[in-house]
Order: sequence, then structure tokens, then C-alpha cells
Amino acid sequence: MAIRKIAQIGHPVLRTPARPVTHDELAGGAVQRLIDDLVDTMRDAGGAGIAANQVYEPVRICTIEVDRNPRYPYKPPIPLTVLVNPVLEPIGEEMFDLNEGCLSVPLRGDLQRRLRVRVTAWDRYGDTVVHEVAGLTAGTFQHEIDHLDGMLYIDRVTDSRTLTTWQEFDRHRGQAFAAEMAAFVERIGS
Ligand code: NI
Repeated sequence: MAIRKIAQIGHPVLRTPARPVTHDELAGGAVQRLIDDLVDTMRDAGGAGIAANQVYEPVRICTIEVDRNPRYPYKPPIPLTVLVNPVLEPIGEEMFDLNEGCLSVPLRGDLQRRLRVRVTAWDRYGDTVVHEVAGLTAGTFQHEIDHLDGMLYIDRVTDSRTLTTWQEFDRHRGQAFAAEMAAFVERIGS
């Protein structure tokens, strides 16, 4: 297991749609090591998730985990989840407002995400798992799956005036935003 270098915005690997992996590749040592490294790298960087193309491996694999994350103290816990070849379908039309950051982009910004989505993927053993998720958890799933399609959250930021550094976000919006998110999580349940 190892901590890998994280690609930063401007590197083409972040803008190239990642390719699906086969069952045989997934069972092999290289891809299993990559999954272990994604988990280590995500935890080391304090991310809520990470996609394989963020560590320069252009395959459709991402990991997600939230456990009292200091970068995102308002996010409800998500157990460690590995998504291989995920397919995302919206459930209903409803959207919600969110502010996101990314390990590959040194800013945060406001955007909208689908309130509810269904994600069908393999787990790391190649078994199909269906995740129906809502709210902030659904936002995290959408963010990571966007990476696999070569998209970054900034592509969804509709008002560039909401872009901030982490330090200025904490200074000027952190408390109010955490309170907004606490109320939202209370209402939606995730
Ligand atoms: Ni990201």
C-alpha cells in the first residue's frame, strides 16, 4: 500500500474519460493494489473520495469514505465504498445547493447536485452493488463519478463569484454554511 501523488487541475488525465476495467483486470494484483492505494491516498489527503484518474490511472474506479472528516465536518458518515465501473441514474428531478472542494482543485465553489441518485457498480470483488443515496452523500457520489467522466466540480459552478480558497471559505462562510448543512442533513437524513 502506498500514498500516490494527486493530479492537479490542468493535467490532462483529469479531463480524459476513464476506461472501464474488466472482471479479470479487477481480480489482478495491479488493480487490487491501486484500490488499496486509492484508500490510503484519500485518507492521507483527508478527502471524502478519490477517483483513479486523480492518481494518474485512467480507469473507472473511485473510493468514498466519510468519518468525521475535518475538511467537511458537516458531511454525514459514509462507510468505505469502492465503486468499479459505476453507472449513475438520477432518481427524480430534484436538485439541491451545495459547496464543494476537490483534492485536485485548490478552491471551493457553489453548485447544484441531484438530490437522489442510484449508482450501480461492482465492488472490489466484482460483485454488483446498487447504492441509492440522497443529499450530501449523493453529492459525494456524483462528484467522484464526474471525475471518471473527465469532469471537475468547477464545470458545474454557475456563479464564479462563489469560488474561494479554503482559508477564506472558513473565515467568511464556514460557520454559516455548516449550520445550513446541519439543517439540510436533518431534513433529508443524509
Ligand atoms: Ni474531486
